[in-house]
Parts: sequence; C-alpha cells; structure tokens
Amino acid sequence: MNGISLHDLSSGQKASFADVSRGLGSPQKELPCKLFYDEYGSQLFEQITTLDEYYPTRAELRIMRAASAEMASRLGPECVLLEYGSGSSLKTRILLDQLERPAAYVPIDISRELLQQSADELARAYRGLRVFPVWADYTRGLDLPRELPAGKRRVAYYPGSTIGNFVPDEARRFLTGIARVCGRDGGLLIGVDLKKDPLMLHRAYNDALGITARFNLNILTRLNRELGANFAVDQFRHYAFYNPVFARVEMHLVSLSEQVVRVNDVDFHFDRGESIWTEASYKYSPTEFATLAASAGWHVQQVWTDDRGLFSVQFLTVAG
Ligand code: AVJ
Repeated sequence: MNGISLHDLSSGQKASFADVSRGLGSPQKELPCKLFYDEYGSQLFEQITTLDEYYPTRAELRIMRAASAEMASRLGPECVLLEYGSGSSLKTRILLDQLERPAAYVPIDISRELLQQSADELARAYRGLRVFPVWADYTRGLDLPRELPAGKRRVAYYPGSTIGNFVPDEARRFLTGIARVCGRDGGLLIGVDLKKDPLMLHRAYNDALGITARFNLNILTRLNRELGANFAVDQFRHYAFYNPVFARVEMHLVSLSEQVVRVNDVDFHFDRGESIWTEASYKYSPTEFATLAASAGWHVQQVWTDDRGLFSVQFLTVAG
C-alpha cells in the first residue's frame, strides 16, 4: 500500500552544498541543525526522547496528558491543526483524542519516511479525519495544500521546544510567519523548554549511552554520503554544554586533530580543537517567552507546566 499522498515541497531534501560550504567557510564553523534529521538521524532522535536523562519529552507528554481537555477547549471546535515538525505525531494523538471535530490535520516534516508512516497511521487511527501531510523544510516558509478546508480556525501546533533551536531573532521571525499563516483568528499551541539547573541540562545533552553523541556525529556521515565529503567521523568529538550567558545548550563537533576535509571538491581546514557548531537549544523563562511572542504578534493566553516546572506548553492567539 502506498498510503496517503505527500504534498512535496522538499525539493529533494538532500543537504545543500551552498548551506554547508557557507557554514564550514565561516570563522566559527557551523552546520544547520535540520541536517540531523535524515532517516537514521530521525530514528536516533526518537531514541533520545526515551532516554532517562532527556526530560523534555516526558515532561511535555505529562503536561499534554494532564491538560489536553483544557487545551482542546482553548483551540475550539472544527479547527485546522497544522503541526510544524510532526515527527512521530505521538503528542498530537493526545490532543486529537480531545479535539472537537477537527476539520483537518496537516503534519509538516522534513523526514519523508517518518512523515509518511505517521500520516498513514494517524489516518487509520482517526477515521474521518482529513490528513494532509506536507513534506517540507518549514524553516523556508511553505505553501499549504489548496484542498484545505476554508473558513476554519487555523491553529499551529509546535511541540518539542524546537522553537529553542532558533536564535531569538530568527525565532521572532518564524513566529511572525506562523501568525501570518494562521491569520486573524489564529492560534498557536507551543512547547517551550524552561530555564533550570544547568547540570540537568548538561545531562540531557550528554547521555550515558552516547545516543546524543551519535545523533550529533551522524551529520558528518550524512555529508559523506550526500555531498561526497570525506569526514573521518572518529576524528571529531561530540561536545555539548549549557551556556548560561545566552541561556542555551550548545552542541559542537570538535576536531581531535589538525585535518583537511574535502566536501564536493572544496577543502576545509580544521585546527586541532576547532569546533563545528551544530545546534543551539535556547531555554526561556515564562516571562522571556511572553516578551518574544509579543514581539511576533502573539498573546499568551495560558501556560501549562509539569509539577517540577521543567517544561511548558503555551497557548497563544494572534494579537489584534
Ligand atoms: C527537541 C529538537 C528541540 O534541542 O532538545 C535533542 C533536539 N538535540 N538532543 C533539543 C535535540 C539534542 C531538541 N529538539
């Protein structure tokens, strides 16, 4: 069986040499964190969400289970639910179980395999729900399928604290874009990781089984495969830490030796100890996030947190 058809905005979805060479050519080398999510990387991320040390997923699931009925009444009946980075759609099910006659569900994801599989499973589990999967890099902005029911309230769902992977300036631009997509009556249900004990953050990105390290290093394997690069993966070290000055976890890949790496016939020189910055994961206080949201045209209506105050899920509406 082929499953429901994907709306394809991915343009093939191979790592772009332009992005990679710009990143590796700058004084502080960097790579975009969306490159983590090839098929294997998406599987590794799903594994990360089950790790003892990785508290965000469990905390967010607990919040969803405790408050999904309240959330559903905030979203209202017959809404069109747009999910940015739907992954396995696990948290979405908790919400869908409570939503009153949702008009459509639009999962958007960069990983084709995961998107197809979870869209099919969802359509099977929720008979009568119209599912319009979109295969896209949503950071580039997107056109929604034309078949979407018109005249219904649009609510974006952005769980997982993926908003933390944007630097605040980009986060503001991204949130502004969602407000435009959702329109006047629009809503946004968003997961936001909170500031906390830095040791807890440190452990969450330095798990004992080394899955996060594998996830980080997989980006190099991917570039070897997709761009004909020749990274010696064992010559790079996963390095992650919480930087309280910027309130973000930074993930790096640090070169263990002086080396030259060739990508698409272009040479990139690495000093011993030089890093490639692969991800930032910003943490917010509720007040800081409200300020960011307001600067993007959103009003925070309600904030739910877990009993340890580790994570938040927030419902926002378009200000106006
Ligand atoms: C859930 C995608 C936001 O920043 O915590 C997990 C990804 N990176 N471990 C995060 C991630 C390292 C993650 N996001």
